[in-house]
Amino acid sequence: MTEFARLTLPEGCRDLAEPDPVKVIPPTAWLDSTRTLSELKTNLLSIWPERAYRGLTFAFQLLNQHYLVCNSPDTVKRVFLEEHDNYDRKSPQMRHALEPLLGDGLFVSDGALWKERRDYCAPAFEAERLPDFAGVMVESAQEMADRWARLPHDQPVDMLNEMARLTSLIIGRTIFGDDTSDAEAAQVVDGFSTYQKAIEQMNWADTFGLPYLRWLSNPLSRFRAQRSAARIHEVIDRIIERHKARKDSDRVTLLSMLLEGHPGSRGQKRCPLHALGARNEAIVMFMAGHETTANSLAWAWYLLDHSPRAADRLHEELDRVLGGRAPTLADVPKLPYTRAVFEETMRLYPPVPVLSRQARAGDEIRGKALRKNSIILVIPWLLHRHELFWEKPNQFIPERFLPGQPRPDKFVYLPFSVGHRVCLGMRFGLTEGILCLATLAQRFRARMAPEHSVDIECRLTLRPRGGLPMYLEPRSS
Ligand code: HEM
Repeated sequence: MTEFARLTLPEGCRDLAEPDPVKVIPPTAWLDSTRTLSELKTNLLSIWPERAYRGLTFAFQLLNQHYLVCNSPDTVKRVFLEEHDNYDRKSPQMRHALEPLLGDGLFVSDGALWKERRDYCAPAFEAERLPDFAGVMVESAQEMADRWARLPHDQPVDMLNEMARLTSLIIGRTIFGDDTSDAEAAQVVDGFSTYQKAIEQMNWADTFGLPYLRWLSNPLSRFRAQRSAARIHEVIDRIIERHKARKDSDRVTLLSMLLEGHPGSRGQKRCPLHALGARNEAIVMFMAGHETTANSLAWAWYLLDHSPRAADRLHEELDRVLGGRAPTLADVPKLPYTRAVFEETMRLYPPVPVLSRQARAGDEIRGKALRKNSIILVIPWLLHRHELFWEKPNQFIPERFLPGQPRPDKFVYLPFSVGHRVCLGMRFGLTEGILCLATLAQRFRARMAPEHSVDIECRLTLRPRGGLPMYLEPRSS
C-alpha cells in the first residue's frame, strides 16, 4: 500500500493489448556513463532510470550543483503553490537557454517583474474573448484542410511542421489580432527549430554549477542561436508595426494592452509598457502560444495512427456530433472523446516535459535538505508515466480522461504546470487543440510513412525527432 491513490482504468480498458507507443528506454544505472553527453543534449529524458518512474523524491549532486526531483503530488504542491515565493525563479539553464530569444519576457522572469508582466498579459485571455478566438481557430483549421485536399496524397506531409504553421497562424490572428501570413508563420516555425538545435540547453556551466565553463561554450552555436532568434524577432517587429499603423485603435488585442495600456474588459487603463518590454512579451506569447499546442497536435496524429481503435472511436464521435459541419465553441463539451484524446496525448507527450526552478533559500522537502540555489526539477514526463499513479502508464488509453472517471490529481497530471506560474494560455490551448483536431480529423486520417521510425527529441520542448512524415487520407464520413 502507498499513501497515494492509483487511478484505475475504466472497465473494458484493462485488457487492451495494444503495443506501447514510442517511449524512452531507461538506462539500467543512475547517470549511466554509456548515455553520452551528446545524447543528453538532444534528449533530457534519457537519463532517468526505471526507479525514477516509481520514486517520490530523489536528490543528486553534479559537481558543484545540487538537484532535487519532486516526483509526488505533495512535493509538487509545496514547490509550485505553498512555497512559491522561494521557488518562483526558473533554473539558470532555462533562463540562459531562452534569454537570447525572450529577453526578460514573463516566461523567464521572476519576482516583481514577473508579477507586473503577468498582470499586463492576463486580460488577453479573458473567457469572454474565447468564442471569437474559437471561430478563428476553426476557420484556420478549415483552410488547412482545404489545402490538404488539393495536395497529391501519394506524398507525405510533415505533420509537426503543418501543426506548427497552423497554430502560429492562429496565435497571430487571435491574441495579436493580426493577419499573419503563412510565410511569416513558416519563418517563426523554422526559426524556432534551428534555435532549439543551436541553443545550449544542456549548458555545462549551469549544469555543474561551474561558471568558468562558460568560456568553453561554442561561439558558433551562440551565433546560430542569435541568428535564428533574429529571424523570429523580425516577424514580431512586423506584427507590431502593422498594429501601430492600423486605424481601428479601439480593437483590444495583446498589443493594445502592452503598447497602449488597455486593461481588457475589467480594470483601469494604465501606463503602456516600454517598447522593449512590450516586444519581449509579444515574443513570449507568440512562442509559448504556438509551439506547445503544435507539438501536442502532432503527437495526437501519431497516436491515432498507432491506435486504430481510438481513431475509430474519435471518428464515430465527430460524425455523430458534427455530421460534417464545422465545430463551434458550443460543441466542445459535446466532444468528450476528442478532448480525452488530446488530454491523453499531453499525458504521454507533455510538450514541456521538464519544469525547473532555483531555490532562493534553503528548505527541506520530504526529509531532503535543500540549499540556496539548489535546482528543483518537476518532470511531467516522469509524473505522467509514474507506476504508483497510473494503471498501464505507457499505453495510449484516452478513456481514462472521459467524464465519469476520477480526474487525476492536478499535482500529478500537469501538462500546463500548476500553481502561481500555471500556463496563461491553458484554456486557449486546450480549446484550440480540441477544435483543430475535430476540424481536421473529421476530414482526414493520417498514416505514418512506413519507412520512418518515430523517436523522441527533448530540448526545450518535447518533439518527434526529425518531424512526422505522414500520408493524408481523405475520409468520406
Ligand atoms: C497545449 C498547449 C500548451 C501547453 C501544454 C502549455 C504548457 C505550459 C507550461 C508547462 C508552462 C509552465 C512552464 C514552466 O513553469 O516552466 C506554460 C507557461 C506559459 N504558457 Fe503555456 N502551454 C500551452 C499553450 C499556451 C498558449 C496557447 C499560450 C498563449 C497564447 C501559452 C502561454 C504561456 C505563458 C505566457 C506562460 C508563462 C506563464 C508564467 O510564467 O507566468 N501557453 N505553458
